[in-house]
Amino acid sequence: MSATPPSVSDTPVLKLSNVESAYGPIRAIRGVSLQVRRGEIATVLGSNGAGKTTILKTISGIIDPRKGSVEFKGDNITARDPAHIVQQGLSHVPEGREVFPLLSVRDNLVMGAYTRRDRDGVARDMEAVYRYFPILAERSAQDAGLLSGGQQQMLAISRAIMAAPDLILLDEPSLGLSPKLTREIFEIVVRINRERGTTILLVEQNANMALNASDYGYVLENGRIVMEDTCARLREKDDIKEFYLGLKEAGVRGERRWKKKKNWR
Ligand SMILES: Nc1ncnc2c1ncn2[C@@H]1O[C@H](COP(=O)(O)OP(=O)(O)OP(=O)(O)O)[C@@H](O)[C@H]1O
Ligand SMILES: [Mg+2]
Repeated sequence: MSATPPSVSDTPVLKLSNVESAYGPIRAIRGVSLQVRRGEIATVLGSNGAGKTTILKTISGIIDPRKGSVEFKGDNITARDPAHIVQQGLSHVPEGREVFPLLSVRDNLVMGAYTRRDRDGVARDMEAVYRYFPILAERSAQDAGLLSGGQQQMLAISRAIMAAPDLILLDEPSLGLSPKLTREIFEIVVRINRERGTTILLVEQNANMALNASDYGYVLENGRIVMEDTCARLREKDDIKEFYLGLKEAGVRGERRWKKKKNWR
């Protein structure tokens, strides 16, 4: 699942330099620098409260950073209006999905395409998302609020695709889903990347799924990036195996060491 797509280029489509964002006195992310190359799936791994959502909100303009810059396709989009950033080709699938519950599935998808004028392209993309997620075609006339959590996640991802973006930000698609459904959704995310060439930045607590699906990864702890590498290499690192993949037990006392607080620096 993780072979690098042939179309990845070295040009970063997204570049964060020394970004700091805060909620009042709480500095949620500090000195965050990262790049996402065109055509790849990049991931930010981190546990509860590490700052993953804050990174995505800062990129899409929902939060203005106190320091640092965000560049998208070579343009400085730091603290720009979220609507402007969407218009530039960046779609954000927020944590907890946030579909429009009282609109039908189909109307949610139409809303996703509100910035577009190419009606034929919109119709083609609507067919494409129904192929990726056939259940959405079956439920197209139903209110989105009646869908299950997993189906709402599918709809939220599909709505992002309908904007025909260059980059999709995905905030914890596995949240609250069964392992089987999580696997299915990740498989489709990889297909969307490979078949449509859409660049994806995924933040996750589920390190196992994220490392298998992604090409390049960052590890975030307490608002700082403490490690980065290709996902193939991250999967082999002992620290990652122990503390994120839970694969190792700690010797004699049989204690699972990953439960302890761990800092890399
Ligand atoms: N609206 C807010 N007001 C105050 N503090 C906040 C707010 N949102 C987040 N924080 C704090 O900022 C830090 C980073 O939160 P963030 O939501 O970015 O983490 P996360 O990695 O997405 O966590 P999770 O995996 O639980 O979603 C946390 O300490 C959190 O308590
Ligand atoms: Mg979060």
